[in-house]
Amino acid sequence: MNNNSIANQMMELEHHYGAHNYHPLPVVLEKGKGVFVWDVEGKQYFDFLSAYSAVNQGHCHPRIIKALTDQAQLLTLTSRAFYNNRLGNYEKMATEYFGYDKLLPMNTGAEAVETAMKLCRKWAYEKKGVEKGKAEIVVCRNNFHGRTISIISFSVDPDAYDNYGPYTPGFTVIPYDNVDALKEVLENNPNIAGFLVEPIQGEAGVYVPHDGYLKSCYDLCKKHNVLFIADEVQTGIARTGRLLACDHENVHPDILILGKAISGGVIPVSAVFADNEIMDVIRPGQHGSTFGGNPLAAQVATEALNVVKDEKLAENAERLGKIFRSEIEKLCAKSEIADYIRGKGLLNALVINNSSQKDLAWDICLKLADNGLLAKPTHTNIIRFAPPLVITEEQLMECIDIIKHTIAEFE
Ligand SMILES: Cc1ncc(COP(=O)(O)O)c(C=O)c1O
Repeated sequence: MNNNSIANQMMELEHHYGAHNYHPLPVVLEKGKGVFVWDVEGKQYFDFLSAYSAVNQGHCHPRIIKALTDQAQLLTLTSRAFYNNRLGNYEKMATEYFGYDKLLPMNTGAEAVETAMKLCRKWAYEKKGVEKGKAEIVVCRNNFHGRTISIISFSVDPDAYDNYGPYTPGFTVIPYDNVDALKEVLENNPNIAGFLVEPIQGEAGVYVPHDGYLKSCYDLCKKHNVLFIADEVQTGIARTGRLLACDHENVHPDILILGKAISGGVIPVSAVFADNEIMDVIRPGQHGSTFGGNPLAAQVATEALNVVKDEKLAENAERLGKIFRSEIEKLCAKSEIADYIRGKGLLNALVINNSSQKDLAWDICLKLADNGLLAKPTHTNIIRFAPPLVITEEQLMECIDIIKHTIAEFE
């Protein structure tokens, strides 16, 4: 890539005119189809990030794009001041799909998390009888739920919270994957309204809790009349080999939060699901969003969810995830730098031993890109591997080869 290349010009523009709130890999993409993306110089890559698990159905899925373009020519936005002819059908379909009475439509993941927390607090005051202003929501250490002030108020990552105070009160942080810690707070604090948890901590580095963790936490919540709130923005919609990661333990959250792949990564769509007993505490004028529930989003999300079922993406993720982990485990057994692999379905992370070179994971990702596969390091020594779920076994084997020979270049 020479200094005057189109790619360099594009990166320079972003660098000059855009806020520096991200540190992207030096790749400038202009096209995507299925598991592939292409850069401005025409180089093809396997996408092993899927926009942080938003593009589960693959880039520019023809059925989802058709739903988008058909609806875009009819009606895009009405606001909720009026009814539209798409939202109700989508709400019926999506609530039946996930097994809830009602859905509250929003746009981004963080907005849906905020919505869930508001719903939970209001439920605590109006149904559980918590004294006004005293409701607490229990969250887990190393959580990632988005970037709003309230959400970063309970982050333990200084990059996420530092110098953004004053912070929102009303959250209790406990260790992740620790049932006793939850038991202790629930037994000692009658003001706990909800327990907000990621079934797998994605941004933290794909931390998978022990089998039975979610079920035990759910049972404790039931015992103490506390809402179990699952943030499945990253783990949901087939990514981990089931429709929801909570399905692995047959847990049906009281409040379910979805985003990202609910639109197949086409436009920002998110949703909060709950039954009437909870959802009905929010009445007209008490919450909303100009774009939430727009007819374009409704059509796109309906088709994106249909694609997940029709193309059996959960089954594919489950089967290929097992192959992926077993092949990468073989690599780790022989490698000095590839320590171990963890994950579920097609949400996996390779932990790199970077004791001899701090930036090793970043350098490996640069080399993976050279070799035609895009992945991104997180927390300096973890590389997340999360391809679109439409990937075939043959393509996956090709990617495993790329990963193996790239790691070999560093041994
Ligand atoms: C578990 C989880 N919740 C919430 C969010 C925030 O979603 P968004 O970036 O759409 O606001 C993310 C984003 O990565 C996430 O992984």
